[in-house]
Amino acid sequence: MGGYKVFSFDKIQSTQDYAYDMIANGTARDHCVVTALAQSAGRGRYRRKWVSHHGNLYASFIFDSPERDPRLSYAVAVAIAETLITFGIHPTIKWPNDILISGKKISGVLIEYAGRFVIVGIGINVHTNPTVAEYETTRTDKYTRADVAEIFSVLTKNLDKWMNAKFDSVRDVWMKLAIGINAPVKYRGEIVELIGINDSGALVVRRGSEYLWIHGDEIMM
Ligand code: BTN
Repeated sequence: MGGYKVFSFDKIQSTQDYAYDMIANGTARDHCVVTALAQSAGRGRYRRKWVSHHGNLYASFIFDSPERDPRLSYAVAVAIAETLITFGIHPTIKWPNDILISGKKISGVLIEYAGRFVIVGIGINVHTNPTVAEYETTRTDKYTRADVAEIFSVLTKNLDKWMNAKFDSVRDVWMKLAIGINAPVKYRGEIVELIGINDSGALVVRRGSEYLWIHGDEIMM
């Protein structure tokens, strides 16, 4: 895998936790990636579980990151979306980086910072999709014969491409694929209009005649 050092497992507790351990014990390097076909304790955003049956793509990429960068989340979303497009699947993006097909979630991203690294955890449903109370899900094998290895290979290249791209081009693609632009969203209990993202990766919403820049996970769509 060009430029990546891959640590692959059939089943593991969580690729994200394994990546954390590598950072903690000093074995992590930029472009290490931990992969598994199943996880016994996969983790999602907001401390949710990421149900991780056998046959999907579960990967945690470790990158050097001396500082936090809110733009990273969009580059990762665009990299996943473009990967699916390569296989003839047409995704949309739900802020900031949920990937949907016909409104059903096919992929999620968990970005966590640890020491001088960032861990980009990506789950893509390939051969199974869990039943989740909060939203509908789907999987790639309904649309393509590509297997986990093929999808992973394209994904690694796209991550490098989009993480190194100018943010203007990341934002252009993200805005084209994003759902809910110009639609109402809930922010701190109020309904505001989702406008887009600015140069530094903040979400821009409109409240009456006022434009607000929001960092973090405060928007409910
Ligand atoms: C989300 O809640 O949408 C984010 C899900 C992220 C899941 C991935 S699967 C690989 C990595 N290992 C984990 O335990 N979680 C992330």
